[in-house]
Amino acid sequence: MPPRRYPDTGVFYRALDREFPLIVRGEGCWLIDDQGKRYLDACGGAYVANLGHGVSEVADAVAEQIRKVAYVNGTAFTNEPAELLAAELRTLSPKGLDYAYFLSSGSEAVEAALKLARQHWVESGKPDKHKIIARTPGYHGNTLLALSASARGAYKKMFAPWLVPVTMIPAPYPYRCEAGSPAMTAEALEAAILKEGAGTVAAFIAEPVGGSSTGGSVPPKDYFKRVREICDKHNILFIADEVLSGAGRTGRWAAIEHFDVVPDIMTMGKGLSGGYVPLSAVLASRKVIDPIAKGSGAFKHAQTFSHSPAICAAGLAAVRHIKKHGLVERCAKLGAVLQTKIAALRELPAVGDTRGLGLLAGIEFVADKKTKAPFPRSLKFAEAFVAAAQDAGLIVWPNTGHADGENGDLVMLAPSFIVTEAEIDEIVARFKTALDRTQEKLNVHR
Ligand SMILES: Cc1ncc(COP(=O)(O)O)c(C=O)c1O
Repeated sequence: MPPRRYPDTGVFYRALDREFPLIVRGEGCWLIDDQGKRYLDACGGAYVANLGHGVSEVADAVAEQIRKVAYVNGTAFTNEPAELLAAELRTLSPKGLDYAYFLSSGSEAVEAALKLARQHWVESGKPDKHKIIARTPGYHGNTLLALSASARGAYKKMFAPWLVPVTMIPAPYPYRCEAGSPAMTAEALEAAILKEGAGTVAAFIAEPVGGSSTGGSVPPKDYFKRVREICDKHNILFIADEVLSGAGRTGRWAAIEHFDVVPDIMTMGKGLSGGYVPLSAVLASRKVIDPIAKGSGAFKHAQTFSHSPAICAAGLAAVRHIKKHGLVERCAKLGAVLQTKIAALRELPAVGDTRGLGLLAGIEFVADKKTKAPFPRSLKFAEAFVAAAQDAGLIVWPNTGHADGENGDLVMLAPSFIVTEAEIDEIVARFKTALDRTQEKLNVHR
């Protein structure tokens, strides 16, 4: 087998400057490459493999559906898996989010959610409402509208001429924001709405619990209650982006449930199918959809693979598997174990903070614990850590830039809900090995 790197094979890889291990099998929380090396997948890929690898119920459900009928177009027909999955999501999701529109990626779901908000207002007789408010740091996807709503300078710079203006407010980030500041209380949202003019604002979009961007930061308990009040007062739709945090990841089906708040629109993706197929969804309330039903009669967002039976069959089997095995409850229980065990890493000189909820955790690296000063970006600390971790057979997800838009290094842990306590211990042990090797390589904190 030739080395799997550009330009030696026909794959246009996501990184063009390194070799890729070739994974041939997945078993629970583990990935195995063609050389027989075993990787402890501590982030479910990109927060995706919630059920663990190799669940045959999901494989069988997809195979069975494909044998019956793999594809019908969502404009002409509906299908059994889409109907059944929507019914499951209706019972699991926050009350009132009764309608599910199925797509494939998180970016598509965000794109559709924002367009739905816009169409809602146009068909409600308020065509001036078009502006979006989002938060920084924050991430909502890589298609152009979702990217516009994301605070990722490094991703946006190249495509800036194609992006639309989105108003940004600071995200609550307890490690780096002062308690009681407008970012932490959500007052920054009201200030932004007043500045823009409520009559021009369509939607506010936010991740209920931070993903990579704020490294699993959990907002103060009252934050989203205040968001809800502000959105209601100014007639603005609140979109909870649960692409990463949904489907049980934080120990509740939707992370927004921790805050006792119901959004108007919710996006899901990643773990919704456990990663067995690319499945995402936009969930919306009747209040949002009715003006469209009474107006033009259709959401102007047709995509070929929306509501696809084969994909929905995987989602249905995954959701039923989660319910049958009590995996959300298990995620809450093992999540508490993970959070306690990683809290002990704060003793290490390079670890500034650990945080998260359920089996979603962030570990932030700093050059100076007292001042919280990040490592200079030129050091590429997070990248070096990820490489050292992969070497040690541990897969984590990095993020950079959160401290000040450019500097800042953290890694995320988000293992499958079937992770055991022994595997959590193994994650922590391999983490320490990777950190030692990173410090040695970069000659810091030694
Ligand atoms: C909160 C959030 N929204 C949207 C997305 C985009 O999802 P995808 O990469 O599947 O397009 C992501 C991806 O990381 C995400 O974390």
